[in-house]
Amino acid sequence: MKYRDFLRDELKGVIPDNAVLPSGFHLVGHVALLHLNSETMDYASSIGEKTLQFNRRILSVAARTGPTEGVMRLPSYELVAGLSNTTTIHYENGVHFLLDPLRLTFSGGNRRERMRLSRLVKEGEHVVDMFSCVGQFALHIAKSADVKVTAIEINEEAFHYLLENIRLNGLESKVSALLGDCRLVHPRKTANRVVMGYLHDTIGYLPSALETLVEDGGIVHMHMNVPEFELENKIVDIKETCRNSGYDSTVNTIHVKNYSPGVGHYVFDIITMA
Ligand SMILES: C[S@@+](CC[C@H](N)C(=O)[O-])C[C@H]1O[C@@H](n2cnc3c(N)ncnc32)[C@H](O)[C@@H]1O
Repeated sequence: MKYRDFLRDELKGVIPDNAVLPSGFHLVGHVALLHLNSETMDYASSIGEKTLQFNRRILSVAARTGPTEGVMRLPSYELVAGLSNTTTIHYENGVHFLLDPLRLTFSGGNRRERMRLSRLVKEGEHVVDMFSCVGQFALHIAKSADVKVTAIEINEEAFHYLLENIRLNGLESKVSALLGDCRLVHPRKTANRVVMGYLHDTIGYLPSALETLVEDGGIVHMHMNVPEFELENKIVDIKETCRNSGYDSTVNTIHVKNYSPGVGHYVFDIITMA
């Protein structure tokens, strides 16, 4: 039975018949993350209890209380049912991620892109992940080929989980981690490929990514939220930024998902040549 129909049946007489119930949830390990509206939020604990019954893998249910904030992209959720320990292990295509999804963002919508990138990486490459969080890109890449990965993260809590996850997945010999602002701590003239998994004005960080590449040039995968009408201008800006750093470039654009009305989450594959 579909989740929304299940809730509708189970909560008959508890919630108004015309209430807009959630159509699904985002499952991270044992934690189901829900988006409720201002009306259904009043019934969050009833919805949470029924959500626990819907799927045996769910042991905790949390509802969103506000937007994801700041450069560290910290989510706002509150526990509404189940176990209060929301630190969990999320499994995705052969990689285990330890994290607390009430404190750190783990996007399900980027999964396809994580898989695409793992397939693109070539044996022997040095890959730098500039916005690593708990290792979403870095660990998939390291699992997929005989590569060296440098993962950079500014948030100490995310960095703690990144170190744990490198160990948990037995990737100590392939992945090294750096704590700090990627604009300052990034290695220089060494990477064949750079991943920029951050969505907000990412182009401002592009000069640092270009400094990270080997002198001949390499590939930068730059994520960014862009209003559709600005897409062409962004490509012009990217090429100009590359030129200012001494590189010619070819830019391929991939739509990852919709971010908000009229705004897409894109990844720009930037192939640079000195
Ligand atoms: C939304 S998460 C994205 C995680 C992962 N790259 C992905 O795409 O799924 C962005 C991460 O970048 C980190 N971050 C933001 N600014 C940074 C900076 N200047 N240097 C290093 N990490 C940074 C944040 O703390 C956060 O963990």
